[in-house]
Amino acid sequence: MDTVLGLRCVRCEKEWSVEQIQYTCPSCQNNLDVVYDYAKIAQRISKKSLQENRDYSIWRYRSFYPVDNFENIPSLQIGWTPLYKSKKQNLYIKDDGRNPSASFKDRASAIALLDAISKKSPRIMGASTGNAGSSIACLGASADVPITILVPNSAPQAKLAQLLIFGATVVPIDGNYDQAFDLCQEIALHNNWYNRNTGYNPYTREGKKSCAFEICEQLNWQAPDWVFVSVGDGNIISGIWKGFYDLYHCKFIDKLPRLVAVQSSKSNAIHQAFVHFNNTGEKTIKQTAATTIADSISVDIPRDGLAALNSIIASKGLSVEVDDSEILCEIRNIARDFAVFAEPAGATSVAGFNKLVAQNVVKEEEVSVCIITGNGLKDISSALSIVKRPQPIAPCRSKVEEYLQRRN
Ligand SMILES: Cc1ncc(COP(=O)(O)O)c(C=O)c1O
Ligand SMILES: [Zn+2]
Repeated sequence: MDTVLGLRCVRCEKEWSVEQIQYTCPSCQNNLDVVYDYAKIAQRISKKSLQENRDYSIWRYRSFYPVDNFENIPSLQIGWTPLYKSKKQNLYIKDDGRNPSASFKDRASAIALLDAISKKSPRIMGASTGNAGSSIACLGASADVPITILVPNSAPQAKLAQLLIFGATVVPIDGNYDQAFDLCQEIALHNNWYNRNTGYNPYTREGKKSCAFEICEQLNWQAPDWVFVSVGDGNIISGIWKGFYDLYHCKFIDKLPRLVAVQSSKSNAIHQAFVHFNNTGEKTIKQTAATTIADSISVDIPRDGLAALNSIIASKGLSVEVDDSEILCEIRNIARDFAVFAEPAGATSVAGFNKLVAQNVVKEEEVSVCIITGNGLKDISSALSIVKRPQPIAPCRSKVEEYLQRRN
């Protein structure tokens, strides 16, 4: 890990050594970002070494990570998810629902797991809208590390089922994600358990960046023009930005894409912050009262809001908000255009893409990538709410044929 130079605060920009700090900035309590010696990384990994590397997972990029106990890598296949090209538009979708626990979060959990093991933590704890929890529960099962998850009682059944089946200690909270998050901070600290919380633990971003590495390699080292990311806490978008930034500074790509943060209009704290920044030049993230059906991005206080805002600004990107009805519609469109089933938060990125195409902000000749961050089987009630469920037919040929005629 001689490639890590330290941890830099995303607000006051003070730098700290990794040994000094485990989580946030001692000076202003904001989040930290890992700083690397890019010259050293570039000596260890190249396009040529990757061409010869047959490890098709996030671990093919191991020189870019802040961990080195690779003997503890779980046997699960994480990352190298498919990038599908649209038949109609200059658009690719990255199907991250194909990860072991069916969401993007496995990228982050993998690095957090290795960090927790290297620090000899007896237990990993986290608060989750569902996916981060089911992800670390899955990875914990693979490495025999005990996991405790605080989850809002309203989380979709499938996510709760995953948590329980993987054997995590599950604490359903009769409150929202933000309340679960605050409780987790207190309890993890008190018990000296490893805290995986998104937008607090600086290493989750470092796993999430692997998605940007894959996008560039899958596009033959051409960075796309636009990358659309569904945003709740803002840790995925800042991780994606970190990935492109790392590649650019190690000269794997010669341009950086513009990032678009896509939020539901019913959970839009980062969109509001970006609009406020454009009007005033101030970076302020205000609490909202989130009510979106896209449970994974339903967040009152974005816990990595400043890093997300910095990423949008640094990439010369944009933010856009979409209605829940547009998100739901997009689940069906993605399924029919790409044969990929997305959960609501996963489909949100594509709803944002369509909006910017309609507004002629994204041009026909520009290459866009939308990340599908979670699989649709995680929340079937949202999917069922937009399709017409046929009534049962008597088990008789004439009745079935009559029904089929009516359908045609
Ligand atoms: C499926 C899915 N999409 C998007 C997000 C948003 O990520 P972030 O909260 O880091 O912005 C999450 C986070 O829980 C998620 O599970
Ligand atoms: Zn600081």
